[in-house]
Amino acid sequence: MNFQKKILCIGAGYVGGPTMTVIADHCPQYKVTIVDINEEKIAAWQTDELPIYEPGLLDVVKRTRGKNLFFSTDIVKEIDEADIIFVSVNTPTKTFGEGKGKASDLQYLEKTAHAIVAASNSAKIIVEKSTLPVRTAEALEKILNSNEKGIHFEVVSNPEFLAEGTAIRDLENPDRVLVGSRETEEGFKARQTVVDIYKNWVPDERIIRSNVWSSELSKLVANAFLAQRISSINSISALCEKTGADVTEISRAIGADSRIGNKFLNASIGFGGSCFKKDILNLVYISETLGLTEVAEYWENVIKMNEYQEKRFVKRMLVTMFNTLANKKIVLFGFAFKADTGDTRETPAYYVAKMLLEEHANVFITDPKALKNAKIDLAEFGDKVNYIEDPYEAAKEADAIAIMTEWNLYKTLDYKKIYDSMRKPAHLFDGRNILNLSQIEEIGFDSHAIGIQ
Ligand code: UDX
Ligand code: ADP
Repeated sequence: MNFQKKILCIGAGYVGGPTMTVIADHCPQYKVTIVDINEEKIAAWQTDELPIYEPGLLDVVKRTRGKNLFFSTDIVKEIDEADIIFVSVNTPTKTFGEGKGKASDLQYLEKTAHAIVAASNSAKIIVEKSTLPVRTAEALEKILNSNEKGIHFEVVSNPEFLAEGTAIRDLENPDRVLVGSRETEEGFKARQTVVDIYKNWVPDERIIRSNVWSSELSKLVANAFLAQRISSINSISALCEKTGADVTEISRAIGADSRIGNKFLNASIGFGGSCFKKDILNLVYISETLGLTEVAEYWENVIKMNEYQEKRFVKRMLVTMFNTLANKKIVLFGFAFKADTGDTRETPAYYVAKMLLEEHANVFITDPKALKNAKIDLAEFGDKVNYIEDPYEAAKEADAIAIMTEWNLYKTLDYKKIYDSMRKPAHLFDGRNILNLSQIEEIGFDSHAIGIQ
């Protein structure tokens, strides 16, 4: 089949995989290929055991795979053949040197840029899909356009706003698509080419065009604002626990104000995920390096509040359970950073588990999709942590249950059966406010939720 254009995505992860699959689904006229250095991942994308769990993803993959969606590890060949290259490699927080713990580690991005230069024999549009510090496009352009082949690469920023667990829905029906470019003739042309991809299914009024720096920074700011809302309501949850106000009632009351809006007001054990902390740290680092100390401090507090929330949760468990957790069996219901994903990056459950282990508790973990990742994350603790898929089995003889992830499954369990199998007094700490506490108390549990006295 003759395809109109060849689109390549470098990086087959949580962002690249779903995004490109949906593009392929809506654009049969384009050939879409996803490459990765990780051979295992690429092999898995070609089976029905995809390397990531995302509701609805497999259906779209099955519809497109082998028709106009392809997976490969032949990065050199695919770069050479591509007209448009989406770069979707990981950009974790630096763990060494200057900016350690805050700045983005751009080594994978830079390697990718050099790989593109080495393998290319014609002009291409390079699309930044990974979340990047503002002005990264400048560095990328420098590396790409300092090639000796005389090839021009135009860099466009198109940050991805999908949330895990709802990736397919978010991609099918996005609030907005953002495409930023240089405001030159070449830049506008490249911007239009990227816009034309999305126009296949996204209404034009939802496609926002901007300059490249605004696009890069908007992604960081969107995540910072979302995280800030969670830290704000979590700070209020601490106040509620001391005053008798109920944080869920406060969320409802303030969320009804259309200026505030009702989303992202669920008080919780804290936010996790690969983006929020990383992106805020990045914002903090950029602000610091530009001498904007007050701006940096302002945003850093969003992370501090999140850490406080995790610590506060464990402290409450400790105090409730008579100031000792040593040798008590505590079961974490959920380890994923949110429901409907197996992803455990920056999951609050990890920090809670670590603090419980420091208190010498016997930690058991159950989760429908994240046990494999949990085992990797907590490998250093060896057999001090137990992993059981069945929540009923996990809860047997436990002293306490702590709900870490808002899986639907945990809303519908038979808590009477669980209570009967536990040691008494049986404690339940709802870190996601998903259970009806009066019903839980009626069963006999000593129960506690976030932001409720
Ligand atoms: C986020 C952004 O939503 C998305 O736009 C961006 O592209 C990537 O980062 P994600 O991390 O996948 O997406 O999940 P999100 O739904 O934003 O949740 C992040 C964390 O906040 C989770 O741990 C979630 O449980 C927590 N959360 C969310 C709350 O504690 N309370 C809320 O009200 C909402
Ligand atoms: P995200 O959540 O941003 O998608 P992931 O870590 O899930 O991040 O995915 C990033 C992917 O990029 C990984 O599968 C990784 O193997 C891949 N990757 C990193 N560096 C390169 C590279 N130089 N060439 C190809 N793929 C790469």
